[in-house]
Amino acid sequence: MPTESRVSTDPTSAALQVAGGRARTYLRELTSRSVYPSDSAVAALAQFHEPFPEQPCHPADVVRMLDELGSPATVATAGSRYFGFVIGGTLPATLAASWLTSAWDQNSAFRVMSPVVAEIEEVVLRWVCEILGIPDDCEGGIVTCATAANFTALAAARQALLGRSGWNVADDGLFGAPPIEVVVGDEAHASVLKALNLAGFGQKRVIRVPTDAQGRMKSNLLPKLSRNSLVCIQAGNVNTGSFDPATDICRWGHESEAWVHVDGAFGLWAAASPKYRHLTAGFEMADSWATDAHKWPNANYDCGIVLVRDAAALRAAMTISAAYLQPGVKREPTNQTPDASRRARAVELWATLKSLGRQGLAELIERTCAHARRFATGLREAGYEVLNDVVINQVLVSFGAEEITQEVMRRVQKDGTCWCGGTVWQGKTAMRISVSSWATTEEDVEKSLAAILRIARQVRG
Ligand SMILES: Cc1ncc(COP(=O)(O)O)c(C=O)c1O
Repeated sequence: MPTESRVSTDPTSAALQVAGGRARTYLRELTSRSVYPSDSAVAALAQFHEPFPEQPCHPADVVRMLDELGSPATVATAGSRYFGFVIGGTLPATLAASWLTSAWDQNSAFRVMSPVVAEIEEVVLRWVCEILGIPDDCEGGIVTCATAANFTALAAARQALLGRSGWNVADDGLFGAPPIEVVVGDEAHASVLKALNLAGFGQKRVIRVPTDAQGRMKSNLLPKLSRNSLVCIQAGNVNTGSFDPATDICRWGHESEAWVHVDGAFGLWAAASPKYRHLTAGFEMADSWATDAHKWPNANYDCGIVLVRDAAALRAAMTISAAYLQPGVKREPTNQTPDASRRARAVELWATLKSLGRQGLAELIERTCAHARRFATGLREAGYEVLNDVVINQVLVSFGAEEITQEVMRRVQKDGTCWCGGTVWQGKTAMRISVSSWATTEEDVEKSLAAILRIARQVRG
């Protein structure tokens, strides 16, 4: 390879040179290869199963092996035709900043360990509050994912709600604590249930509120709440993209001083677009929010964000202390999140938002929504049933009976033009199309739609 013929004699430079050249080749070839790896590429992973090597290996050769065996077995989620789950790509500035911050290798737990990351984290959290329309005096942190962000917010809620009865859960735990009543919608994401489990509330010890045909909580069916209630609502249903009626729920909750938490893993970012902002109306009234930057804003993995109105409750739930951990006078990143040592995720998030700007972020949201609508129109025109109102970037399509939809999905995944996953929506098997990547173009949508329609025609005979 020409880029590797000039490999440096310094091991670090040599490894970086090989990694840089191969990463560029990987990204260049991503749109022309199958979105899902071939069976042979996956089978070749067996070569990783060697005994623990006795001898060291040159860093450049480590990277070469990783690329030669690993790259062909990756899923092209960084490409432009991956529509599974809710998976964004990585913006160019984000990827490049990630390389640089990897070179920095900062531990961002405490300001004294990395003044630059602590400072950038404050800046970027303020930007996120502004983008999402959340009060800018909220406290928050950057965690791995929305599941962790949900957990962190619920731990803060637990601290505050029990604190009202004079119970300090951080010191005394949950055994014997006054009860807290948890209310969720029937369509709460599984990660909220997991977070309830982790926070000791129990994922089944909840009151479930029925939802409508789009998965929105029926706010008129909310139970009577109290100052010991925790209500979890959703901005962006993972299947339909729908939003709970936040204004009604927050008003009802706050009349009785209940804590309202928002799982807005991807949907909250609709607030970045003047065209879609109305969907997020009322969510700013909540008490805590969880979201992801690795989904719709196209930051790299992993980048979850938690924001909490009651800064003291979050700090009380998350603060760590030891003689050798001497906090400064300013905000310490570790005291807002469960983890201590962590990567400089804030820098990658900063690079993402800095490179997009307000206009770029709005365009990204609007472009992906337009792509989703095009998918829905094309599928409907071909006679297939779109099961949801396509309000943002999610499309659910049925190709007929369960076995037919399953078979179309299986063949779409094997075909390799694009990749879509499956779900069951209100009893009906569906294929999910989630358009979340900055890299997806109109051409990608047409190419993917043509492949899906060709396969559906074949399956239906
Ligand atoms: C609404 C919602 N909440 C939470 C999550 C979990 O996100 P993560 O995998 O980042 O924890 C998802 C994932 O798609 C989601 O759609």
